[in-house]
Amino acid sequence: MTANADIKIEKTTQSRVTEYDVNNVPFGKCFSDHMFIAEYADGKWEKSIIMPYKDVPMSFAMSALHYGQAIFEGMKAYKSDTGEVSVFRPLENFKRMNKSAIRMAMPEVPEEIFMGGLLALLKLDAAWVPTSETGSLYIRPFLIATDEAIGVKASETYKFVIITCPAGKYYSEPIKVLIETNYIRAVEGGVGYVKAAGNYGRSLYPTKLAQEKGYQQVIWTDGKTHSYIEESGTMNLMLVIGDTLVTPALCDTILAGITRDSVLALAKEWGMKVEERKVSIAEVIAAHTAGTLKEVFGVGTAATIAQIIGIGHVDNYYPLPPVEGRQFSNKVDEVLRGIRKGKVADTFNWMFKVK
Ligand code: COI
Repeated sequence: MTANADIKIEKTTQSRVTEYDVNNVPFGKCFSDHMFIAEYADGKWEKSIIMPYKDVPMSFAMSALHYGQAIFEGMKAYKSDTGEVSVFRPLENFKRMNKSAIRMAMPEVPEEIFMGGLLALLKLDAAWVPTSETGSLYIRPFLIATDEAIGVKASETYKFVIITCPAGKYYSEPIKVLIETNYIRAVEGGVGYVKAAGNYGRSLYPTKLAQEKGYQQVIWTDGKTHSYIEESGTMNLMLVIGDTLVTPALCDTILAGITRDSVLALAKEWGMKVEERKVSIAEVIAAHTAGTLKEVFGVGTAATIAQIIGIGHVDNYYPLPPVEGRQFSNKVDEVLRGIRKGKVADTFNWMFKVK
């Protein structure tokens, strides 16, 4: 796919890339030179532009701000040793974004706008893609409702925007997580399976409470019984119990993570036993007691593989085996990194080259 010819391009006259060490910046705080914006009005997509990254005037009455008609995606671009830039599975993000759009009564973004905007942007900002082993350019596409109107109804105007930022590790250290048995992230029939902005806003208070107790994140449980684990923070959750990779099965309270899907694909290719099913807190504690809970880790775009070194539940803390000895998650982390950096054969055709 090539860039959409209809994109108007206003290049920056002064790149800011030399102001940063792109291999060493905090996650999500320094933005690359350009951004892509497409506008939707009168029932159709029109006007696509790439312009220098900057603040743009918008109304405080805009509906995204009041009623949360806002969705987003997260993906990453990598640079190989030869300087080639590729994006990890962007078409999966494109498809998921449109699932989110449907659920939030928003217009779907056409593929030529999503992919055309993305590729054109990455060509301009290729210098912002880190070269380090664990670095990448985090790509944040989002769709927001822009009607200047306070009535509660689906907006008639929208902006689809892509911004990017160089990123290193999301978590600098392995994390401790607390099983949350009071607050919930998602319920059946809700929007947990899509990437609605509000899913993240509502997670902050319980996360803050967990952090006050010395944890970095929570493990969300099902909204009805609080007895099954679902996700951890902004990540899908995986466990190695005995010789089996176990992860909560997708349902309408769990986001279909692209890293999740990739880890499962690799595990199956390696002949590992994989189970996608309900996982109860009781099972996790029993496995810990029996000594069969070998590895627990979160998987997500921003975090990639985030090792979990201990789990809290009510008044108990369950320390987990040392990270160094975790055969599966360390191997999958290394192989995924290798595929992304062009060092390991991309047998699944996951890398989308920016030509
Ligand atoms: C991602 O992994 O892209 C996420 O959605 C996490 C993000 C909210 C930082």
